[in-house]
Amino acid sequence: MKMTKIIATVAACAFGAAASAQDGNTLFVEGEKMVTETAAPDHVEGLRTIYSGWRFRTPETQALQMDDFENPAMIFVDQALDLFNTVDGSEGRSCASCHESVEDFAGLTATMPKVIDGKLTTMEDLLNGHRAKAMGAEPWKWSGPEMQSMIALIGLQSRGMPMNVAIDGDAAPFYEQGKEMYYTRYGQLEMSCANCHEDNYGNMIRADHLSQGQINGFPTYRLKQAKLISRHNRFRGCIRDTRAETFAEGSDEFRALELYVASRSNGLSVETPAVRQ
Ligand code: HEC
Ligand code: HEC
Repeated sequence: MKMTKIIATVAACAFGAAASAQDGNTLFVEGEKMVTETAAPDHVEGLRTIYSGWRFRTPETQALQMDDFENPAMIFVDQALDLFNTVDGSEGRSCASCHESVEDFAGLTATMPKVIDGKLTTMEDLLNGHRAKAMGAEPWKWSGPEMQSMIALIGLQSRGMPMNVAIDGDAAPFYEQGKEMYYTRYGQLEMSCANCHEDNYGNMIRADHLSQGQINGFPTYRLKQAKLISRHNRFRGCIRDTRAETFAEGSDEFRALELYVASRSNGLSVETPAVRQ
């Protein structure tokens, strides 16, 4: 099956229309305006404008993200706050033993993943490395509820800040690896990330309105699964949809892909935790 059969072309509606408040193009979260549309970063050759995934969702799903009382992800954020104060591991410490407030992490998510001591490091790596070293605690599962809830809580501290992931210096080789993956055709369908998220965003695929596959809202709460979804879990799902063998969550391949995809979001607001269908 080739692209033309899978993607039923439906006129892209929302784009180019003048934006005004509450029109499906303009996102205020708790009164704060998010950048959901901006000029693509220079290094993204295939797009002129980048759009947040929020722009492609139905009005009902969009509304859930505008009000923290309506946002179902906030239950998990609350659980993470409890976790932040819970003692765990052989050292008898909680996060709060050393970190006065999660607000200290403001800005961090906008720059992740990044290279630390030569290693491409995601937020998951940071937290598990840290749990082992600072707490003597067992690692959390990559896409498990503790991990993704804590990442959502930390991400919330950067909400509204522009994504600003470095791609030069130490990050350059990982960027190149991730970029190559993005344009590689996978599976029986022979489709790359770019075939869907660059060439066909705005079109319908099956029952879904295709976005640009940005990750400025991750971890996202998916209504279908009723839980927080990690970045790597989303990548796996997309590759599986092309009927290809996929990479493991936490693999070096997905770290590099994450860096590249995150860099395509540079300039969009961090929207963590976003809500999706
Ligand atoms: C023993 C004290 C200690 C404990 C316990 C601790 N941390 Fe840390 N944390 C630190 C120190 C010191 C740093 C800065 C140096 C580093 O990155 O190792 C740090 C850095 C971090 C960073 C990176 C901040 C940045 O801007 O790069 C995050 C995120 C973080 N901690 C989260 C947590 C969380 C979540 C927990 C609980 C699961 C936790 N920490 C438990 C001491 C601690
Ligand atoms: C066959 C088409 C297709 C391919 C190929 C594909 N995706 Fe997707 N992807 C989708 C659909 C459909 C969705 C759900 C609707 C949406 O958000 O675009 C989605 C969603 C996403 C999202 C969530 C966006 C958000 O705002 O919640 C990300 C991130 C993503 N894809 C990344 C990728 C990456 C990286 C690749 C390549 C490894 C890829 N996708 C390949 C179809 C595809």
